[in-house]
Amino acid sequence: MKYFLVAIAVVIVAQTSCVNNTQDDLEPIGPEVAQEDEKVTYGDVVFVFDNICTACHSNPPQNGAPMSLASYLAVKEAVLNRGLLNRINREEGSDGAMPLGGPRLPQPTIDLLIKWNEDGLLEN
Ligand code: HEC
Repeated sequence: MKYFLVAIAVVIVAQTSCVNNTQDDLEPIGPEVAQEDEKVTYGDVVFVFDNICTACHSNPPQNGAPMSLASYLAVKEAVLNRGLLNRINREEGSDGAMPLGGPRLPQPTIDLLIKWNEDGLLEN
C-alpha cells in the first residue's frame, strides 16, 4: 500500500510539472500576437504597384489605363474611389480583373492590401 501511494504521488508530481512546462511553452505567444497587430503601411505594399501595375498605370498612364498608380496619393485615391481592391480580388480572367491580362496576384499579397485598407491606408 505504501508503495502504491508513493507511485500515485509520483504520477501527480509528474503531471503537475507537465502542466507547468506547457505554461512556459505558451509564454512566447505574447510578442507574436503583438507583431500581427502591426499596421500595414504604403511602404509594405508599394512593391505591387512598382513591379506590376505601373507597367500600364504609370505617370502618365499607358496601354489604355485610365489613371496612374505611381504615387501614394494616386493609389489611395484608387482604393477609395476606383474599386482597386475589388479589381484585384476578381477571379483570374474575369471581366475587369487586375492586373489586366493576369496572372491574379498571390492571395497573401491581396490579403496584405486588404489589411492596408483596414488599417487606414497609412503612408508611413
Ligand atoms: C496591361 C496593362 C495593365 C496592368 C498591368 C494593370 N492595369 Fe489596371 N487597368 C488597365 C486598363 C486598360 C484599365 C481600363 C479598363 C478597365 O477599367 O477594366 C484598367 C483599370 C483599372 C482600374 C479601374 C479604374 C477605374 O477608374 O475604373 C483599377 C482600380 C486598376 N486598373 C487597378 C490595377 C492594379 C491595382 C494593377 C496592378 C495589380 C493594375 N491595374 C494593372 C490596364 C492595366
